Amino acid sequence: MITRRSVLGGALAAAGLPLLAPGAARAAGRTVPPAFSVAMPVPPVLRPASCADGVDFYEVSIRKATAEILPGTATDVLTYDGHFPGPVIHARSGRQVAVRQHNDIDMPVAVHLHGASVPPESDGGPMAVFTPGTSRTYTYANRQPHASLWFHDHAHHMESEHVYRGLSGTYLLTDAVERSLPLPKGRYDVPVTIRDARFDGNGQLAYTMGDRNRTTVLANGRVTPYFEVAARKYRFRLLNGSNLRIFSLSLSDGTPLTQIASDGGLLERPVAVPVLTLSPGERADVVIDFSPYPVGTRLVLKNTGTSLPEQLGQVLRFDVTHTANDSSRVPDVLRTLPAAADLPAAVVTRDLVLSMDEDGRPDPRGFINGRMYDPERVDTTVAFGTSEIWNVSNANTRAAHNFHLHLVQFRVLERGGRPVHPTEAGLKDTVRVAAGETVRLHVTFDSYRGDYVYHCHMLDHSAMGMMANFRVR
Ligand code: C2O
Ligand code: CU
Ligand code: CU
Repeated sequence: MITRRSVLGGALAAAGLPLLAPGAARAAGRTVPPAFSVAMPVPPVLRPASCADGVDFYEVSIRKATAEILPGTATDVLTYDGHFPGPVIHARSGRQVAVRQHNDIDMPVAVHLHGASVPPESDGGPMAVFTPGTSRTYTYANRQPHASLWFHDHAHHMESEHVYRGLSGTYLLTDAVERSLPLPKGRYDVPVTIRDARFDGNGQLAYTMGDRNRTTVLANGRVTPYFEVAARKYRFRLLNGSNLRIFSLSLSDGTPLTQIASDGGLLERPVAVPVLTLSPGERADVVIDFSPYPVGTRLVLKNTGTSLPEQLGQVLRFDVTHTANDSSRVPDVLRTLPAAADLPAAVVTRDLVLSMDEDGRPDPRGFINGRMYDPERVDTTVAFGTSEIWNVSNANTRAAHNFHLHLVQFRVLERGGRPVHPTEAGLKDTVRVAAGETVRLHVTFDSYRGDYVYHCHMLDHSAMGMMANFRVR
């Protein structure tokens, strides 16, 4: 249950009032370091507390911590189990995971497993918060195929600030299909969360809603780091963990990235992508083959949006430091998915229009079909077991949005009236919708009944109201 007090707390947070007491003045190093001066860490893997009766059981404490994001500076962050960036949970299709989350901060929280098919009581939606000092156990049946998922805070009106301050982690679900492929594995399979941030003069994370000045890029929680690689193939699981920023990623020597997976797992075939566009919440797994490069080569993963400040134009540098054996390979066929023409026939077609105030008012509001989010209102009711077509449009002329549905992986049939590029033709849970654009989605609701949300995953926008409830019954 959400209380009036916690709603008020959320409103204060939404107004940009700090949730964390400002840290005492730090002695040293408050400035953003030069690019490529720190190593990119690989996030730690959580170990289950027990593995009895076919369930991997985890205990996680949601707590404040400090992280050395800027060299020599302790920055206050919110974490899962003390880790910034958040930790990794490994799961397998068909094997259950349960996570007891303890709320050890002073605000309500909700933990959502993004991209997962879960019953409503484990979805961690905006109203399913639990209060400071309490805990909640989430159960994940993992009945879906492999996918690179992530978990993050979803407490109503606080999700954007909580995620910004660190409450996000990685959840890698694998299955027999994926494991049978000779893709890079183990230490050559690296999760990378990319996001932006703004630091104040004390080296603390500054948060205001809709902030356009988050001009520092973090890869796995470090500012424009380097990462030492062997001259062989790597799989990188890229997640855009930003609240607002869309990244356009490419390699500095012009070699295309090989994209092998999107939100809901492997694509049917690998796709060579010169520029990979990733909006907040979207994932893309790419393989980069460093074997053509001599030891000593430095290759930059660039962000090539137009007219970016220098800090934003570079994400990460790969330093080829040694050679290594490589028996991995990217097969020509990764999986099979039903062709768009073979998807179950849709029984309903809906139009959803995303919009927000663009007039520069200090408190911009977000809307879906002209209405702001009302936790009490069910906006869309769908029949269990059926498929629908959702045409999602962005009515804004300048602001970009994207669209995320809980519970399901959908297919994107068209963008602007044309079939989508192969990188968007696999299973998706989040899709970009540029200003003035329409995407056409095919969604099947055949896993669980109950109430869930859909929203723009630019979390500042969902906190402004660009969110709605749907009921599967
Ligand atoms: Cu990443 Cu409502 O979700
Ligand atoms: Cu989600
Ligand atoms: Cu939006």
